Amino acid sequence: MPSADRAKRDAGYYAADLVKNGMILGLGTGSTAYHAMVRLSVRIREEGIFVAGIPTSHQTAMRARELRIPLTTLDDHPSPDLAIDGADQVDPLLRLVKGRGAALTREKVVADAAKHLVIVADPGKLVQVLSGPVPVEVIPFAITPVMRAIRTLDGDPRVREGKAKDGPVITDNGNYILDCRFGEIPDPVRLEEQLTALPGVVECGLFCRYMEKTTLVVGEERGCRVVLGRRAQGI
Ligand code: 5RP
Repeated sequence: MPSADRAKRDAGYYAADLVKNGMILGLGTGSTAYHAMVRLSVRIREEGIFVAGIPTSHQTAMRARELRIPLTTLDDHPSPDLAIDGADQVDPLLRLVKGRGAALTREKVVADAAKHLVIVADPGKLVQVLSGPVPVEVIPFAITPVMRAIRTLDGDPRVREGKAKDGPVITDNGNYILDCRFGEIPDPVRLEEQLTALPGVVECGLFCRYMEKTTLVVGEERGCRVVLGRRAQGI
């Protein structure tokens, strides 16, 4: 197994082992979060723990059903105990770029609602300075003015195209994704504020507000390295 895949698996399994009986979980999207779900399903089956997950995408919901992980909603459980998710980039302050899988809006809603956020990653995701590209979810009606506004922020926005579909990717919420290149992002907090303030933007893939409640788990050669945010103890 290639080392990045092993690192993702180890990080995912580590995160699943943090889960306690009875917890309500946010279930992230992507290959690393999937490893956590695989391990969780084993724990449900073999240890008899009870958990319920809030999926952040149609893909995650489908995978959770296959793995027999019970599902619930934010309506029934508005404050999940723990969200487990991947990231595309993580900086030393635990700020993130997310959204390669176009699930960033639901991922951010769940991360915001959760008491703790566990980010699972391979070492290739760690960067000194976030540099994107930053995915931005936009309602189709607003795509042209939002692209123009992003150019005034020195960004280069491209409409994400489908791989097995002609034309734009349509998110689980029925919107478009702009992948926006800014080069290195010296002030991601400000850029997140600027992007999310644009009318028609639903969310952007910069996650700068959850550092304190984040636990970062990085799969490494000699086991997992864990970095705790200031309020991340006591999961
Ligand atoms: C999906 C995401 C993913 O969590 C992120 O892209 C990481 O994916 P992977 O674990 O497959 O590398 O933000 O929207």
